[in-house]
Amino acid sequence: MNDKKIYERVDKTKLPRHVAIIMDGNGRWATGRGLLRSAGHTAGVKTLKKILTVAVDLNLEALTVYAFSTENWKRPHAEVDFLMKLFSEYIEKEKREMNEKNVRIRFIGRLEEFSPGIQKQMTDATELMKNNTGVQFNVAANYGGRDEIIRAAKKIAEKISAGKISPDEIDGTLFDGETDTAGQPPVDLLIRTSGDMRISNFLLWQSAYAELWFTKTTWPEFSPEEFIDALIEFGKRDRKFGGLGK
Ligand code: FPP
Repeated sequence: MNDKKIYERVDKTKLPRHVAIIMDGNGRWATGRGLLRSAGHTAGVKTLKKILTVAVDLNLEALTVYAFSTENWKRPHAEVDFLMKLFSEYIEKEKREMNEKNVRIRFIGRLEEFSPGIQKQMTDATELMKNNTGVQFNVAANYGGRDEIIRAAKKIAEKISAGKISPDEIDGTLFDGETDTAGQPPVDLLIRTSGDMRISNFLLWQSAYAELWFTKTTWPEFSPEEFIDALIEFGKRDRKFGGLGK
């Protein structure tokens, strides 16, 4: 539970609708303390819980976190196995509380490459929360932005070859409807922790006009207060969407 006082400085009329987070720096946090990288991921789960609570308390429309990229399989077996175990435990431990908080979870990415056990946990959690009306919480798992765009393009191509739509009908709305975040607002604010300033193939379609916010703080050390700093900074940005702005 976060102390409600931390929300006093937030102007709720200036909040982003959709926040995306690249939760980077678990490994650096751990090795800097002489711990195993896995300890960093465990600590990262605790941060995620606190940040999701902020999203719930402020009633954000959507929060998407980068839990595992299509490239993360290249890490040592032991680390990949550990992350899989962590996902599995996280879903089992947290789903009841998320459901009570009216959170609606969705897993985005190439989910078919996970073990049948994890896929079932993902489907069960999604099913449990499907009628909830609070924060839309997307967990990007085996996710890559380019991969998502290719998958969406394939689905459209299949509809064209089946004679369901014609190429002329393809527009932004139709394309968006084939992405993993179909029906959700685009990303307004993209946060990356731990100092690197790149997007790393995350939500490429959805972040076209996202405001970017980077911090040197590692993910395990990222606090609700710093998250709120980012939300407040977002409220001060002049968003132009290619026009001339305010
Ligand atoms: C980046 O840190 C983090 C990851 C690749 C995994 C993110 C996972 C979590 C925050 C915990 C598990 C999430 C869920 C949904 C249960 P890094 O390992 O790349 O750190 P480094 O750049 O310092 O090496």
